[in-house]
Amino acid sequence: MSLDNLQKIRENFIKEIEEVKDLSLLEKIRVKYLGRKSELIDILSSLKNLSIEERRETGVKANELRKELADLIREKTEDLHYKYSLIQPSLDITKPGKKAEAGHLHLLTKVEEEIKQIFLSMNFSVIEGPEVEDEYHNFDALNIPINHPAREMWDTFWLLRNQKEIRNPKSEIRKSEKLLLRTHTSPVQIRYMEKHNPPFQIIVPGRVFRYEATDASHEINFYQVEGLMVGKNVSLANFKFVIEEFFKKFFKNQKIEFRFRPSYFPFVEPGLEVDIRLDKKSQWLEVMGAGMVHRNVFDAVRYNPNEWQGFAFGMGTDRLAMIKYKIPDIRLFYSGDLKFIKQF
Ligand code: DAH
Repeated sequence: MSLDNLQKIRENFIKEIEEVKDLSLLEKIRVKYLGRKSELIDILSSLKNLSIEERRETGVKANELRKELADLIREKTEDLHYKYSLIQPSLDITKPGKKAEAGHLHLLTKVEEEIKQIFLSMNFSVIEGPEVEDEYHNFDALNIPINHPAREMWDTFWLLRNQKEIRNPKSEIRKSEKLLLRTHTSPVQIRYMEKHNPPFQIIVPGRVFRYEATDASHEINFYQVEGLMVGKNVSLANFKFVIEEFFKKFFKNQKIEFRFRPSYFPFVEPGLEVDIRLDKKSQWLEVMGAGMVHRNVFDAVRYNPNEWQGFAFGMGTDRLAMIKYKIPDIRLFYSGDLKFIKQF
């Protein structure tokens, strides 16, 4: 009787478990066949009512069946877990992905690139020079001798304290090699002329440093583009043409006015400053210094000042970017603030 029952239980169980497709149903089946109130457990607990003979046979079979059912349930559980993981992978490949953040060029880099392209189109060459400069190239050769009051125009980061004036023993003139962070791109004029003969026209984009308090229009480092054109008959009229062309191309359809205003820089004579304004109502903004190269500068690089003449200029890249893109504070360029950087 009990043995027949066991056989039935097994058959039913196998039929049911084959159909099971989810874990909660499987749990119901486990309770039904192996739970405390199941038929099988009932049989096992009523063995004591049987004869010794029957008890032995049924007991062994019933225990075997219990083990078999438990094994099958465990197998099925593992099976279902595996299938679940395929159907519902923890990685949802249908979800929209997170975009990888790609950076882009900084606005100042783009503006510098624009400036370079414009001058390249006018047959200028692009030259670079060192950010760590010596006193001779940054000052002396530019007609700014030591103790000259004009040195106060450039508050300087000297690189070593108490540097003695270092002279190049091979040079008969004073050539201090005291190191500093260049305060302007003008020393590259000297470096270029020391190695090349005129005629030529170059621009020098680069970073410069000033030992100054910062505010909305001053930073301790910023960018300049130096320009230098030397030839037999180069004049301020040529400068005016070149710079007008530059403004037209740089500001494109933004109409601007510009003016020349007399000024002083030791390395030019006459010297001037160039101001621009967006319309009659807005203020004049100074964007560059310029002038005709001083004969003392030509002397320093052993050009004959009676044979050669040229114009030079130095413009503020940051200034031009601020005007073109209406940026109120130079410090934004160097803040590293993505909310600012991403706008351009
Ligand atoms: N070097 C000057 C400065 O940083 C700017 C400048 C003025 C450059 C006149 C020039 C120039 O080449 O001719 O303030």
